Amino acid sequence: MSRTREKLAMDFSLFTAVFCASFPVSLAAGRPHVVFVLADDFGWNDVGYHNSEISTPNLDELSAAGVRLENYYVQPLCTPSRNQLMTGRYQIHTGMQHQIIWPCQPYCVPLAEKLLPQRMKEEGYATHMVGKWHLGMYKKDCLPTRRGFDTYFGYLTGSEDYFTHVRCTRISALNLTRCALDLRDGEEVAAGYKGDYSTELFSQRATDIIEKHNSDKPLFLYVALQAVHSPLQVPERYVAPYSFIQDPHRRLYAGMVSAMDEAVGNITRTLRQAGLWDNTILVFSTDNGGQTLSGGSNWPLRGRKWSLWEGGVRGVGFVASPLLKRPGTVCRELIHISDWLPTLVGLAGGRNVTEPLDGFNVWNAISKGFASPRLELLHNIDPLYNDIAPCPGTGRRLTLAQAASGRSRADAGFNVSIHAAIRSSNWKLLTGYPGCDVWFPRPGHNGSESGPVDPLKPVMLFDVAKDPQERNEVSASFPAVVEYLLGRLHQHQRSALPINFPDEDPRCDPGPAGAWGPWA
Ligand SMILES: *[C@@H]1O[C@H](CO)[C@@H](O)[C@H](O)[C@H]1NC(C)=O
Ligand SMILES: *[C@@H]1O[C@H](CO)[C@@H](O)[C@H](O)[C@H]1NC(C)=O
Ligand SMILES: *[C@@H]1O[C@H](CO)[C@@H](O)[C@H](O)[C@H]1NC(C)=O
Ligand SMILES: *[C@@H]1O[C@H](CO)[C@@H](O)[C@H](O)[C@H]1NC(C)=O
Ligand SMILES: *[C@@H]1O[C@H](CO)[C@@H](O)[C@H](O)[C@H]1NC(C)=O
Repeated sequence: MSRTREKLAMDFSLFTAVFCASFPVSLAAGRPHVVFVLADDFGWNDVGYHNSEISTPNLDELSAAGVRLENYYVQPLCTPSRNQLMTGRYQIHTGMQHQIIWPCQPYCVPLAEKLLPQRMKEEGYATHMVGKWHLGMYKKDCLPTRRGFDTYFGYLTGSEDYFTHVRCTRISALNLTRCALDLRDGEEVAAGYKGDYSTELFSQRATDIIEKHNSDKPLFLYVALQAVHSPLQVPERYVAPYSFIQDPHRRLYAGMVSAMDEAVGNITRTLRQAGLWDNTILVFSTDNGGQTLSGGSNWPLRGRKWSLWEGGVRGVGFVASPLLKRPGTVCRELIHISDWLPTLVGLAGGRNVTEPLDGFNVWNAISKGFASPRLELLHNIDPLYNDIAPCPGTGRRLTLAQAASGRSRADAGFNVSIHAAIRSSNWKLLTGYPGCDVWFPRPGHNGSESGPVDPLKPVMLFDVAKDPQERNEVSASFPAVVEYLLGRLHQHQRSALPINFPDEDPRCDPGPAGAWGPWA
């Protein structure tokens, strides 16, 4: 990052606007096809180009010939990342700042939000989606086919069995655990795929769409793979090369990654065979950090999925395309998952994104190596935050009481008990309990190298450019930065919508023979 930009980034007076409009640029030569592949729970240390123990030849080769995004951020959870991808807006601006959508919760991304596929459709694109939705489905208006996709094949909830496509969930109000199919073709239940491994099923559907596509029309294809979320399931042939991995969870996970890599290889091969590749932009992104409880790894980063530490939010991502102006480079500019909407709509020729967005058009940063227009990133503010699973190493979890006692400091009006984090240039500030804070050891190694760990504090500051592992807490040395960032959190919080996180509706129950889907 240039000196001028660092200076600009520190010029606090620049950050007066809560929302930042985007200025789309269009490609001179026609509109590109856009294929967006979203992996699920794919960790920082789980791609071949970060960790040679995992074999991802397709991801390695595509990204090496494209642009690897190495300062790229996602949200720490499934629904939130997908929500921001589809809306270009922070979660606080859709009322979805708390957690994921559970199968029986009656809500979805607010219907007033115009989603990415709707915008691409307005620009004349054929729009198709394959895979995991997880943006709400309690009523039909929430379904992918009602929100901009011409076709949809996939599952609506957050996870399920890779072979049976059955999702089990507890419905407390009915005092029962319901297991039911979750797979749809369009809006119809798709029976008859039992035994088909979803990574292959979904890549097969994606390649069918590509083969049938009339290339006169630009294509927008969103492939939200089930891989590599739990449960750990994969055909044996993908696991065989990993017999050297001792940990059985890690071994299965590595096999699932290889299957996903093959899926991406199949999709890109089909794009080439169909003659579309020369005019295609392929984005690959994870949705959040790896889940260490189910084989994932973010080593050497701190934390995991469901936390605001770098292990939860620093994402694997790249762009592969013959249209890139500087192929074969690494982009270290700050980029966030909310930036894809203005970026892709901009590439589609759209000049119509007039609503307030939190995302920026980052195409020139990716393609040409320009400075990113994004100088700040709100990771999240969630006053209701709760961790889902126990974090190893008890005693470090910050209690709200401890955090509240830290409020005596001048805190620019922001309640520092609240789970929140914000990034500005090299600085990252965290407040409240950020989630599981462990440096999980490198797979296959024990944690013997980790030394003593400072207790968590209600306000923590890290220079993540120099210290991406968040080991050296420096709030005491930079009080002006702390005050500024707390003030920014305060401003963001004032623009937040109330949290929407409704109670389960027992009418969600599809019964013993039904399928998960709209009930209202
Ligand atoms: C819930 O169901 C279990 C058996 O499935 C039963 O033992 C228990 O009493 C039930 N609880 C309530 C509150 O009905
Ligand atoms: C990739 O394509 C090959 C050949 O069609 C097929 O056998 C394989 O199952 C596909 N892999 C995935 C993950 O879809
Ligand atoms: C702009 O948006 C409006 C309303 O959503 C739509 O009717 C119109 O077609 C769009 N114009 C262009 C050029 O995309
Ligand atoms: C601060 O936030 C915490 C956590 O959300 C909440 O429990 C507490 O009531 C808040 N305190 C004040 C003074 O608003
Ligand atoms: C951890 O690893 C170190 C070095 O590899 C080894 O010396 C030590 O015995 C191991 N400890 C345990 C508990 O496995």
